Amino acid sequence: MKISNSHQKGEVKILFIKDKKISQLTKTQKDTLSLLGFEGIGNIFIPENKTFVIGIDKSLQDFPNTLRDSLAQAIMSLKKLKIKSISLEAQSLQEIKEICEGILLGNYTFDTFKNEKNKSNLKEVYIHAPTLDKKAVDSLIAQIQIIANSVNTTRELINTPPMEATPEYIVNFVKNLSKEIGFECKVHNTQFLEKEKMGAFLAVSKASCHNPYLVHLTYKPKTSKKSNLKKFVFVGKGLTYDCGGLSLKPSDYMTTMKADKSGACAVIGIVDSLARLGIEAEIHGILGLTENMIGGNAYKPDDILIARNGKSIEVRNTDAEGRLVLADCLSYASDLKPDFLIDLATLTGACVVALGDYTMGIMGYNPKLKEDFLKIASSAGELGGILPFNPYLKKLYKSEVADLCNIPSSRYGSAITAGMFLGEFVAESLLQKWLHLDIAGPAYVEKSWGVNPFGATGAGVRACIEFVKQKA
Ligand code: BES
Ligand code: ZN
Ligand code: ZN
Repeated sequence: MKISNSHQKGEVKILFIKDKKISQLTKTQKDTLSLLGFEGIGNIFIPENKTFVIGIDKSLQDFPNTLRDSLAQAIMSLKKLKIKSISLEAQSLQEIKEICEGILLGNYTFDTFKNEKNKSNLKEVYIHAPTLDKKAVDSLIAQIQIIANSVNTTRELINTPPMEATPEYIVNFVKNLSKEIGFECKVHNTQFLEKEKMGAFLAVSKASCHNPYLVHLTYKPKTSKKSNLKKFVFVGKGLTYDCGGLSLKPSDYMTTMKADKSGACAVIGIVDSLARLGIEAEIHGILGLTENMIGGNAYKPDDILIARNGKSIEVRNTDAEGRLVLADCLSYASDLKPDFLIDLATLTGACVVALGDYTMGIMGYNPKLKEDFLKIASSAGELGGILPFNPYLKKLYKSEVADLCNIPSSRYGSAITAGMFLGEFVAESLLQKWLHLDIAGPAYVEKSWGVNPFGATGAGVRACIEFVKQKA
């Protein structure tokens, strides 16, 4: 799909109606809409005028995703028609940003395995912006194209079934990407994990027939005007499959667990965009890639693991594996002494219970950092909710036989206790610089919503890119 800043007329014109104000329509258009029972809210196509009307609900006008979502929904309908080009008008750069995001994200579809492809006929979008600076509009469109491509790359990786998207597959994918764009990609294998004494990560990977990898991506700008580059480290949970291990998941809960690699795939998308944008910051991406499986060699409830930072962990449930992999990855990441340390993980079902499908949990020890992230995520089109840590919860993951237990003694607040557990593996000097994002809800949804078609959404990618852009 090509979006250009041009006066060219598309085959179909997109018209926005805010607050049911249909006064801008011609009499024939009004008559057709009234005949179709359209009352000013929702999308409708008027074939004889070749006009696609997007009616924006007044109650949603202040919701930051309204324009993006309407465009995405419009694209999902339009691409099924035999229309090759559309045109629309925009009044501000912010509007252009939201319009482009809606179009490019709404146009994604995962049909690799379908014989009948969901082919889109729509190829060209012309945006008329006579009142805006042409250079600024062109550069903005180019930026949004990069970011939307990264979100779609993340979605594609997550959607790829677990028989194909193994840890090795992700490694090869990101190796090729790093060569194409020019960032560093170090792949660490089992021997490295053993040398680093990553006993928690290694335990999770034991029963899988696929080798685990810790991948370390690094991007640094080739030249920079800044003397002091900020360092951002992103850590991603990359369980290419989570069947629960010996604490096996019931079948209904096992499906969709190919998406348990969403954190790592989001980190790939984040580094991809920031490198392509040539951002003036040092960016690291740490991926913890493995599978949580069953077998004679599987780690067990009752095992006691020693993590990289020396803390011992009693395993009481092998399905709480993400925090074990991340424990060692966060300890490794702490050594990089970042200015910001952010982990992304489909960590707990409890976070979905707390916030619902569409919202990521934002956790950490620094109130301002959490608030800042929440605001930035929202401006980037992603929903977040802060789940507060408190010292009373700490006793819930105490163990009688080890320093910590991998599950809390109460299920209440267990998105928070999982987050606090992760904090035990972040260097103390970095706790104020650390954020934990639980993306279990929004990363993969089995229905289309907002700018997202069925399946993987790329949750966290846009929010983190915007965060770096604002904090670098
Ligand atoms: N990968 C799951 C969490 C998850 C659940 C992600 C639903 C996406 C959707 C995680 O590894 C897990 O199984 N967590 C357990 C923890 C429990 C055993 C303490 C959970 O949330 O039930
Ligand atoms: Zn699990
Ligand atoms: Zn998991």
